[in-house]
Amino acid sequence: MKMTKLSLLLVGCLGAGAALAAPDWSKVPAKKLPAFFPGPSGLEWILNKDDHSAANQMLEKNRSCVYCHDEDAVDIGNKMVAGKPVGNAKAQLETTPPKGKGGAMPVSVQAAHDGKKLYLRFEWEAAKGGGEKKADPKNEVKFTVMFDENKVQDVKLTGCWATCHMDLRTMPDASANAKSNPKAKALGWDDGVTKYLRESRNGVEMTKKPRGGWDKLKSDADIEAALKDGKFLDLMQFRSGKGEKPVDGYVLESRHMDGGKSLVKAEGSRQGNKWVVTFERTLAGAGKGDHTLAEGKKYNIGFAIHEDYANARFHHVSLGYSMALDDPKADINVVKQ
Ligand code: HEC
Repeated sequence: MKMTKLSLLLVGCLGAGAALAAPDWSKVPAKKLPAFFPGPSGLEWILNKDDHSAANQMLEKNRSCVYCHDEDAVDIGNKMVAGKPVGNAKAQLETTPPKGKGGAMPVSVQAAHDGKKLYLRFEWEAAKGGGEKKADPKNEVKFTVMFDENKVQDVKLTGCWATCHMDLRTMPDASANAKSNPKAKALGWDDGVTKYLRESRNGVEMTKKPRGGWDKLKSDADIEAALKDGKFLDLMQFRSGKGEKPVDGYVLESRHMDGGKSLVKAEGSRQGNKWVVTFERTLAGAGKGDHTLAEGKKYNIGFAIHEDYANARFHHVSLGYSMALDDPKADINVVKQ
């Protein structure tokens, strides 16, 4: 939604009223985190030492991405969009670099709560680039947030990479048979396989091609149990297109674009090259695939930006970060207002 001057004024006035009080963002600390173009570096690539020399250290010493890439995430993005060789094997991982794609941009992240709701605000300048094919002609920008409640091992270690496999649609080992799978319709695989967690599969091939385990689905009962245990990633998405609705879904055995009931609003506006996107969500989990956010608990969060009408894997992503309410030790401290 593009905000006109008038609606901005209105929001400003309403914002002063108690009932609709959004946080005073000028009082909420902002953290600058990099979003970068990851190429097809799926979980199987990240956790295979022949591809990524850090794999063993990650698994044995429990080191997450930020431990090593806090500073150089920008360089990774720049290498990927240029189609340069990367990883342990010094091989070209991104073989189809999108024309004119920017490699990375810093995103200013703010988080607040008022005891009832969570508020997130993201601000960034469009990555330099443009001229890409409009893969999603409806939405110039999609902004997605995913978080878990620190129960999924892959998420703790890798953030969003837990959901990204080498056999997803547009990834190197994607299967051509996805659409004819009996579950394809129910799982929303019209355009191919979407994100999933290893929790939902009876084995995922980590090294030999084709990597992944898209068709090794666990039983419905097992998947239902994982959902009940909170072993999923909650997902919220802002979509900039006219008439497009915000998404409140989750990722477990597939990427579900509905089910959630906690998201109240997802709004965004563009001024010049600068984008601002905000989310408002109840702290309580209200629907399917909604986590409850409570004090004293740790969450892992990551975000992704599809800009320039990009789709599928052609986004900029953050590494995984910890998030907690009123905890200065968390990477993203959700402060009380
Ligand atoms: C223990 C340190 C360490 C951790 C943890 C780590 N990496 Fe790396 N990563 C490296 C090193 C070193 C390289 C350079 C190439 C190599 O040796 O594989 C690299 C390379 C990469 C590359 C290719 C770009 C390049 O410059 O070669 C990507 C993409 C990448 N890492 C992503 C990640 C992600 C995503 C995570 C978390 C899921 C992660 N890394 C965790 C150390 C680490």
